[in-house]
Amino acid sequence: MSVITKASQSAVYDDGVVRGFAIMSVIYGVVGMLVGVIIAAQLTWPELNMGIEWLSYGRLRPLHTNAVIFAFGGSVLFATSYYVVQRTCHTKLFLNKLAWLTFWGWNLVIVSAVVTLPMGLTQGKEYAELIWPVDLLIAVVWVSYAVVFFGTVGIRKVRHIYVANWFFGAYIIAVALLHIFNNIQLPTSATHSYSVYAGVQDAMMQWWYGHNAVGFFLTAGFLGMMYYFVPKQAERPVYSYKLSIIHFWALIFLYIWAGPHHLHYTALPDWASTLGMVFSVILWMPSWGGMINGLMTLSGAWDKLRTDPVIRMMVVSIGFYGMSTFEGPMMSIKAVNSLSHYTDWTIGHVHSGALGWNGMITFGALYFLTPRLWNRDGLFSLKLVSWHFWLATIGIVLYASAMWVSGIMEGLMWREVDANGYLVNAFADTVAAKYPMNVVRMLGGLMYLSGALIMCYNLWMTVRAQPSRVTTHAAVPAE
Ligand code: HEM
Ligand code: HEM
Repeated sequence: MSVITKASQSAVYDDGVVRGFAIMSVIYGVVGMLVGVIIAAQLTWPELNMGIEWLSYGRLRPLHTNAVIFAFGGSVLFATSYYVVQRTCHTKLFLNKLAWLTFWGWNLVIVSAVVTLPMGLTQGKEYAELIWPVDLLIAVVWVSYAVVFFGTVGIRKVRHIYVANWFFGAYIIAVALLHIFNNIQLPTSATHSYSVYAGVQDAMMQWWYGHNAVGFFLTAGFLGMMYYFVPKQAERPVYSYKLSIIHFWALIFLYIWAGPHHLHYTALPDWASTLGMVFSVILWMPSWGGMINGLMTLSGAWDKLRTDPVIRMMVVSIGFYGMSTFEGPMMSIKAVNSLSHYTDWTIGHVHSGALGWNGMITFGALYFLTPRLWNRDGLFSLKLVSWHFWLATIGIVLYASAMWVSGIMEGLMWREVDANGYLVNAFADTVAAKYPMNVVRMLGGLMYLSGALIMCYNLWMTVRAQPSRVTTHAAVPAE
């Protein structure tokens, strides 16, 4: 392992933009989760709207989803992909200035979301709420991102392209396609537009986008993180490189077909919804192949689970990846979906994936990156990482289990009919019955948020520490 000083490190890599995105991901994470806790509280006590339209649930909910997915998740994806592609290609970023443009552009997108969504300006498409001028800005940022990323791969100094870059590359290309095609609009004013698709085609397009936002933004990109940071933190090579390649090709081929499972029992033709279901069920296999590959990378290093809370976070994350990719295919089966759809079960599924998989691997990556990016000897406190780990893990368990109970209960209550075939429960009865589960979900969310705040403090104290005189970890590739 070579010894590299800070000066020579910055001569080797462009880490300024990585540091910028890493800082923003922490800030946006805390804000997005705080809004999550607020809307969870509003679902429990609706008076918390306080009669102010800006704070109403309908406006804060898209603010939450955009903040956690695109601001928090997006920033960490930019940070890690820029970090990983340089290390594994043994080169600086292609066009560092353009990378900085993606930084400022992405932050401008997020500021626009924070202003427009509470004002009630929306396209009305879930996860694609932002109005058309912001959509155009996103397209420019994303194409620049693709130029920087693929340009860096293009000027690599090693022949091999490490598997993490395949996942990052697929996520960048797929998100560009999804965003552009789902947002083809006819503007009618500076803030309003109509989709060029109508009726069921619009719904089909929207859920092709929506599901692949999950598949490529929240899964493929994060798998890129898994395939780099887990081997690094465990100090072991990927368990099976062959399996990682199969995981990649199977995943990208299958995900793109699964969108119609969001539209079961709608005006969508039955064959299309069956097709979505079949591909979703098959998707279980590569997903679990990837999970096994991630977990088995710890072979010979399991003892680290006792001593290293960062690796513990990564392992729990992979566990939740496995859990949500088992649950998803199950929920895509029409008979199961007829119970789960419109209920809190979906919300439980979403957050076991979002908090468990996306959140935990992000925290692991940030704990890995911070001492290296700021050239510090190590993290300020491993004990605080351990506190974060337990608060987050218990928080997720409370959140997800409350939603599973609540969702299955409300699904069954909606179905219940008496001897004459009349519905037994009014909608308001189900809302009242969910009250205790809503309180537990909010407490779970609060614990998860507290863990994230502890992380902020820990990372801040790490950055404030004395710089290391030498570092040994800057230039070592993952292979
Ligand atoms: C403190 C943590 C969090 C809390 C308390 C929280 C709370 C909530 C609440 C109350 C909802 C609305 C549920 C409903 O309409 O019934 C929601 C929706 C959602 N949240 Fe979170 N959330 C948190 C973190 C996250 C994170 C980190 C992500 C993603 C990385 C995320 C992604 C989503 C998504 C995608 C939805 C929409 C789900 C759907 O429409 O089916 N959340 N969240
Ligand atoms: C094999 C993998 C997966 C499959 C087949 C799958 C399938 C499903 C199904 C069937 C639904 C319910 C659709 C409905 O009734 O409306 C759903 C919702 C959802 N899933 Fe998954 N899921 C998978 C993995 C994941 C992962 C890893 C995440 C990551 C966070 C995730 C995030 C979501 C979100 C955000 C929604 C809510 C969408 C909405 O707003 O309605 N899923 N998924």
